[in-house]
Amino acid sequence: MKTLIYSSEELLAEHDYSEKFTHKGHTLHGGLTADGIYKPPRSLNRIQAIENWTEELRKNGHQTNIMDEVKEIIAGDFFPTEEQAKFLMRSGCKDSMTRILTIIGVVEGFGNDGIKLLPPLDMQQFFVESIEGTALSHLHSGLLKAHGQDEAGSDIEEGHDAMWYAVRDRSLGNPTITDDMFENLPVAPPPGYQGKAKAAESVKQMTSIGTQIFPQINMMLELTLMALARILHIEYGAYATFHWAKQVLSDPEVSESPEWAPKVVGYIQEDEDIHVGYLRCALAETRARTLICEDGSHLSGEEVIDKLCEVVKKQMGGKRRELMSIHRYTQILKELENHPDGERILKEFKALGRIPELEETETEAAQAS
Ligand SMILES: [Fe+2]
Ligand SMILES: [Fe+2]
Repeated sequence: MKTLIYSSEELLAEHDYSEKFTHKGHTLHGGLTADGIYKPPRSLNRIQAIENWTEELRKNGHQTNIMDEVKEIIAGDFFPTEEQAKFLMRSGCKDSMTRILTIIGVVEGFGNDGIKLLPPLDMQQFFVESIEGTALSHLHSGLLKAHGQDEAGSDIEEGHDAMWYAVRDRSLGNPTITDDMFENLPVAPPPGYQGKAKAAESVKQMTSIGTQIFPQINMMLELTLMALARILHIEYGAYATFHWAKQVLSDPEVSESPEWAPKVVGYIQEDEDIHVGYLRCALAETRARTLICEDGSHLSGEEVIDKLCEVVKKQMGGKRRELMSIHRYTQILKELENHPDGERILKEFKALGRIPELEETETEAAQAS
């Protein structure tokens, strides 16, 4: 009989690590167990729990794929491409790469504040069927807390944000980090964020709560389901970043840490697999059930989840993703402007791959969000 009910302590429980990684005196989360294999943080029981819950869905003939296609669609889509990035680094243009890796870390750090915004809910009240022994019933008793700490660290260890900074520092030989690298970002920090990152003015204006898609259900429930779907979309999108970073940073011609840096990116990816696993499971569990509306009537979970995912795919793909590419391209152009051989480098850079369209105005981009 598979275990389906876990305490918060069990979901947060750690492996017995025999090797931990450090960077500049700080301990990074996760580590190697005695067999030399990397184990993500708080994963002594968490991975197995998610597998058990997902297996229950499968066993009962329910779909467990939620927006899985997004991972494939976004898979190879990263600007600058591997070739373009390596070319920049070979040409001595380290500043834009430093900025790109810094922003990846910054956005990882947003994760915890975003998750903290989700109010604890008694999820059972919204479902006709029991949710006992599901990912849904464990969201607020371990899963979301573990996720937030994976992204931004805990009181005792560093999380993904700091891990990306470590990857950046080692692969680029401790580049100079300036405050402007945290400013004018194409993504807005979530409310409650205390760090130094600041979004561009146009991006800040985009963050407003839209109208409810299913006004007949509890507003906080819809907000929670929508947030889970949005975070899942972001997690899928991150796989393109992992693939790109591993390819670029494992090249000894351009990376000062061709072994350690890509290895740590791989560890971050393993941690993210857990996030994808539980988010997909909780949304699939909702899809397989019946929701209770505010007036007591019923609504199919399938209808709600399919619609919310459709909206999320529209909101999070396309132009919104392109905004980040435009931001990266702007940084590259700025660096090349001040480079003595900038014109030639830019010409070759352009010939190596796709270039984002700069004429897209901020207003257009804001409307697309
Ligand atoms: Fe992460
Ligand atoms: Fe994540």
